[in-house]
Amino acid sequence: MKRPHFTLTVAVSVDALISPSTETPTHMWVSSEEQDLFFADVEAADWCIMGRHTHEAADRPDRRRIVFSTSRSGWQRPTQLWVNPKDMSPADLAGEVEHVRPLRSGLVLGGTRVHDWFLAHGAIDRVNLTVEPVRFGAGLPIFSDQQGSDPLEIFRSHGFVPREERALNERGTRYYVLASEFDR
Ligand SMILES: NC(=O)c1ccc[n+]([C@@H]2O[C@H](COP(=O)([O-])OP(=O)(O)OC[C@H]3O[C@@H](n4cnc5c(N)ncnc54)[C@H](OP(=O)(O)O)[C@@H]3O)[C@@H](O)[C@H]2O)c1
Repeated sequence: MKRPHFTLTVAVSVDALISPSTETPTHMWVSSEEQDLFFADVEAADWCIMGRHTHEAADRPDRRRIVFSTSRSGWQRPTQLWVNPKDMSPADLAGEVEHVRPLRSGLVLGGTRVHDWFLAHGAIDRVNLTVEPVRFGAGLPIFSDQQGSDPLEIFRSHGFVPREERALNERGTRYYVLASEFDR
């Protein structure tokens, strides 16, 4: 089976954090422009893949979701599969959901360990990155091993190159599309 195409869509603070805490919902601090792009990405994807906290923070029973967890597994709802991905590959995920809807394009929604898993498998093909003009000082990183606090530099150091950049509003929100350096 051909490996699906995976896009990581993520909003970060200027100091490269995805949230000040596990309990803080993303919609509390991102711009409406980011939310519009985010929901367009969700609509376009065959499946969204996320960790248990991210799923529980925005429970939507109707969405097609693959939820990473060690505490539960199997189909919890007709379109929501929970898996422990420890011994799985990205192509295995596609095999699990094929009968409900083929996974050709997957949207990776976080949090940190979900990003880590896709990165470790070399399976992030594209990154839709929004940098919001907020600074958290402390919180959850994009990747567990990240060094420094410059979002673009962190993605560059993990093998991604910017392909597009634009302002999303006049308040300083910036949007970047990055691609894997192997995807030429
Ligand atoms: N800024 C953004 O774009 C963005 C995107 C997504 C989330 N967030 C924010 O990030 C926070 C949540 O992220 P988080 O990092 O705390 O949690 P998370 O990844 O959403 O959930 C963590 C849980 O998911 C499961 N999990 C994740 N990766 C796994 C793996 N590789 N193998 C097995 N299980 C795995 C585990 O569940 P079990 O405990 O059941 O084993 C783990 O406790 C929230 O504040 C949310 O708003 C921000």
